Amino acid sequence: MKELKILGIVTIFTLVLYWGVEPFAHSQMHKHVEGHGLVYDGTADIEEAKAAKKEDVAKTKEKFWSEVAEVAKLKGDAAAGEATYAMCAGCHMEGAVNMGGVTPPGLEHAGAIYDKNFLIALIKDPAIATNVDHKYPIGGTMAHPMGSISTMVTTPQDIANVVAYLEAKKAGEVTPKEAFTEACGRCHANRYGHLTQLGEIPKTKSNIKTGLDIDAMKYKQKVAEEQAALADYLGTLPPDLSIMIRARSEHFLHTFIENPQSTLPGTAMPRTGLNKEGMEKVFAYLEETGDPSKPLREETGPKVLIFFLIFTALAFLWKKSMWKGHH
Ligand code: HEC
Ligand code: HEC
Repeated sequence: MKELKILGIVTIFTLVLYWGVEPFAHSQMHKHVEGHGLVYDGTADIEEAKAAKKEDVAKTKEKFWSEVAEVAKLKGDAAAGEATYAMCAGCHMEGAVNMGGVTPPGLEHAGAIYDKNFLIALIKDPAIATNVDHKYPIGGTMAHPMGSISTMVTTPQDIANVVAYLEAKKAGEVTPKEAFTEACGRCHANRYGHLTQLGEIPKTKSNIKTGLDIDAMKYKQKVAEEQAALADYLGTLPPDLSIMIRARSEHFLHTFIENPQSTLPGTAMPRTGLNKEGMEKVFAYLEETGDPSKPLREETGPKVLIFFLIFTALAFLWKKSMWKGHH
């Protein structure tokens, strides 16, 4: 009876801690930020500017996002968009080089992983679309490295066409790794995934006589140069993301990736504009690299359980045989 009472008290205390005290402390220490359901229509940006009493910024953004909505209503012509896409490919190509601090990502699956509204906004004004316009004040000397696109693709119909082209021709099946590489990889390394900001780490060999792997050294130097350029461009080197899924909750990651400014005001990380599929694939990759022993664990678990079941049965039989005749 006494044991039952103690068990009851311990249980009640644990439940109160688990459902009462911990969530309360958590809510006090971490402000809860709501996501926007992966809708990119500028609502949050406009509210943010109003809350900061930046009326002119709010006005500019209201106008900007209402123009984006107008373009979204147009029917794009994918065939006509192909010619326009050639301009994108001038920067976004295989073997692209760093420009203005960052290397343009591959767009092979852009139509699959990015939201349509976001893409329209990005072509109109990459700084406002990715919500890093605070870095590019009007009349300032800094220009967004993709900024010149708005002078090349000018009419609403042109924008609608190139986005239609992306959705028709650059939207095939995408693997988690491809989604990560295209959306995050130009800034974030992933050590456990063997990725640097320059892509997959190449396999190299040491010279037999000297024991030195010169190609690996050259590669390391190239990565170091890329990272230095990134750190200049962003003010800080973006962290390695291999085990980020273990350091941060899924909710934090979702709201942060959807709109980094909402969680970390002033951050240089752009809004990435992922749609549902893009977000799911990036998360799948973060899980794959952040918890690499998961498959092994899942495979070993049942075996251990079976072992214990057999062991228990044997122990029981053994006890029975030992006590035989003692009663
Ligand atoms: C002058 C070179 C240049 C041109 C032309 C260009 N881009 Fe970019 N683009 C960049 C750079 C550089 C980045 C990376 C910017 C950053 O990370 O801050 C980028 C980023 C992107 C991204 C990723 C956005 C994100 O934050 O997730 C997409 C998508 C994209 N460009 C699409 C396009 C499309 C579509 C076109 C053609 C209509 C185009 N780009 C034309 C240089 C260019
Ligand atoms: C143009 C570069 C750039 C791209 C692209 C980018 N990030 Fe970042 N990211 C940054 C920078 C810079 C920081 C550091 C933020 C700071 O300290 O202000 C950061 C920080 C982070 C953090 C850490 C946040 C924290 O508070 O600990 C996470 C998680 C993250 N990024 C995830 C992603 C994911 C996932 C993607 C792709 C969907 C991505 N990032 C794409 C630049 C980028």
